Amino acid sequence: MTDAAGLRLLIPEEQIQARIRQMGAQIARDYPERPIHLIAILKGACFFLADLARAIQRPVRIDFIGISSYGRGKTSSGEVKLTKDLDSSIEDADVLLVEDIVDSGVTLNYLLQVLAQRKPRSLRVAALLDKPSRRIRPVEVAYVGFEIPDEFVVGYGLDYAEQYRNLRDICVLEETSESQPAGGSSRASAGA
Ligand code: IMP
Ligand code: MG
Repeated sequence: MTDAAGLRLLIPEEQIQARIRQMGAQIARDYPERPIHLIAILKGACFFLADLARAIQRPVRIDFIGISSYGRGKTSSGEVKLTKDLDSSIEDADVLLVEDIVDSGVTLNYLLQVLAQRKPRSLRVAALLDKPSRRIRPVEVAYVGFEIPDEFVVGYGLDYAEQYRNLRDICVLEETSESQPAGGSSRASAGA
């Protein structure tokens, strides 16, 4: 069912939280020895980072990295730029890059190259959502919360023009006369 604002419930809060608890337990089992260095990609992944970090019942450190992407889908490659760098070194750290959603893969493909140059001990990705059908760059995602179809979603950190990040559920933003998400194809976004 779609409400007046064009929002259709896709993943309710309880299901998001239950899945994150499972992911946290799995991650804690996979890194038994050393602290995990969680890096959230601003801004969308902050909500996921906050819940995931508390679901990992092991020592973690947190840091943030900011990127902006322009004209995704308009050009074949997309363009990604670093807008905020990490606060601390990741050399020899077990790094888990925390992302809200993997779409074309351009953002993560770029960030993984940047971070790999800094010689972490290990480097993996945890993404709450994955839209595998939209991939144009290969990305290995070690931990995926939910695979979703090619629809534009908002809530739980995900925005459309900076709106809807604080919704507790993940919803599909349907195209209406007022809101025109137009998939990922014609949007330019900053502060993903
Ligand atoms: P990618 O580089 O195409 O993989 O883009 C990933 C980024 O695009 C995510 O971090 C989001 O900020 C944004 N994005 C992709 N799909 C959606 C969506 O359905 N809703 C909101 N933001 C999205
Ligand atoms: Mg993002």
